[in-house]
Amino acid sequence: MKMKSDNIVLRRLTDDDAPHMATMANNEKIFRNVRDALPHPYTLEDAITFINSCKNHDPITTFAIEYCGEYVGNIGLVPGSDVYRKSAEIGYFIGEPYWNKGIVTTALNLITEYCFHDLGMIRVFTGVFEYNTASMRVLEKCGFEKECVFKKAVIKQEKIWDEVRFSKINPEFLVEENH
Ligand SMILES: CC(C)(COP(=O)(O)OP(=O)(O)OC[C@H]1O[C@@H](n2cnc3c(N)ncnc32)[C@H](O)[C@@H]1OP(=O)(O)O)[C@@H](O)C(=O)NCCC(=O)NCCS
Repeated sequence: MKMKSDNIVLRRLTDDDAPHMATMANNEKIFRNVRDALPHPYTLEDAITFINSCKNHDPITTFAIEYCGEYVGNIGLVPGSDVYRKSAEIGYFIGEPYWNKGIVTTALNLITEYCFHDLGMIRVFTGVFEYNTASMRVLEKCGFEKECVFKKAVIKQEKIWDEVRFSKINPEFLVEENH
């Protein structure tokens, strides 16, 4: 499974991505915006363990983001279960040298289409820590709507923060008779 738009490709992670992933992810500016499941400092071993954990996933849920042929970051989804099985949570990061080039905006559009058209998801969503204005801007550019604030839902770096929830609904399910 591979998706492409302009000079951006989403593809399965490979063992060769591990050193690049470790270099990109070992950044406090990334750590402060994501869950603690992504540790800091971030080591080569962390990258290898993560890539191994993504192997054999079918359908594929975690993608490498390639920009002009180079690995620059990850984007992934977590499908819901039980009554939430038609919802998917999205997460992403790219290395700081590649910020503000429109890369994640394109990657998020690609994975959202994948969720809707390939996986049959109805809703994709994510939660953004209250200070992460760049990620909120990406979500707005991709047509996600701010839904609500989960007050004081997050503890990050020993401080308590609100989480802002954004979602996008598969346009096929916005029609009344599908309810
Ligand atoms: C947030 C992140 C994913 C954005 O990726 P990106 O490829 O740089 O995003 P894009 O270039 O597509 O868009 C970034 C937008 O945010 C804007 N932006 C950047 N920094 C900003 C800031 N401090 N305040 C407000 N807007 C900001 C940019 O101007 C751009 O908007 P524009 O196109 O209207 O000018 C990336 O910075 C990152 O990986 N951050 C660390 C991890 C993270 O935050 N993950 C998401 C967790 S919810």
